[in-house]
Amino acid sequence: MKNVLLVLSSPRGDESYSHRIANQVVDEIRAGHPDANVVIRDLVKNPLPHVAEPFVSGRVLPAEQRNAAQAEALGLSDVLVDEIEGADAIVLAVPMHNFGVPSSLKAWVDHIVRPGRTFSYSKRGPMGLVEGKKAIIVVARGGVYTQGPMMSSEFQESYLRSVLAFIGIVDVDFVRVEGVAMGEDAIKIALAHAQSRVRDLVRDLALDRSRVSVRAAA
Ligand SMILES: Cc1cc2nc3c(=O)[nH]c(=O)nc-3n(C[C@H](O)[C@H](O)[C@H](O)COP(=O)(O)O)c2cc1C
Repeated sequence: MKNVLLVLSSPRGDESYSHRIANQVVDEIRAGHPDANVVIRDLVKNPLPHVAEPFVSGRVLPAEQRNAAQAEALGLSDVLVDEIEGADAIVLAVPMHNFGVPSSLKAWVDHIVRPGRTFSYSKRGPMGLVEGKKAIIVVARGGVYTQGPMMSSEFQESYLRSVLAFIGIVDVDFVRVEGVAMGEDAIKIALAHAQSRVRDLVRDLALDRSRVSVRAAA
C-alpha cells in the first residue's frame, strides 16, 4: 500500500463521522507503511464543476481533435483519473445525503467514468479498465439501512459498489457508521463498531501484503 487516495465529501468538516473514520483508515495504513504517499481529494473545499457539454462531446474525441473548452474539461477529468490510477488503495469518506451520495461525490464520479480511460465497450458489453485497486469506503448515515424498514432506500453503498465495479474496481470493503441520528449511545456504538472494523480491514491488508512478498521471494 504505497499510494493512497483519500476522497472526502462531507460538508461537516471536523464533525464528520465519515471523515473521522476514513482518516483512521489512512493513519493505520501509514502506521504499517510509513513510506505511504497519501493524496487527498477534498470535494468540499475544492468542489468540482458538474460535467457540461464540452466534457460530453470531448470525451469521445481523440485529444488532438478537442477544442479549447473540451481540452480543459477533459484535462480536469484526466487529473482525477490519474489520481485513481496512481493509487494502490482508494479510501472514500461518504456521508449519506437523501438516501444516496452527496452531489460533490456524484460530480467526481461523473468526471472519472470515462469511455476509453476507465471503461471500454466490447462485444460482451462494457468492461472496466481500472485494475488492481483496493477500495475502502466509509459510509455514515443518520438511520439504519443494513436491516429493517429502510433497507430498500439504501442507494449510497449499492450505487458506489456498482459504479466502481463498472470501471473495474471490484475489491471493495465498506465500513459503516450508521444510526448516528439515534442519540449519543447509538453514536458511540456505531463509532466503536466502525473503529474495530477498520483495524480488522487494515490488518488484513497487511496480511495480504506479506503473503504476496513471501510468494514473490519463494
Ligand atoms: C443534506 C443531508 C441529507 C441527509 N440525508 C440523510 C438520509 O437520507 N438518510 C440518513 O440516514 N441520514 C441522512 N442525513 C444524515 C447524515 O447522513 C448524517 O449526519 C451523517 O453523519 C453524515 O455523514 P458525516 O458525519 O460524515 O457528514 C442527511 C444529512 C444531510 C446534511
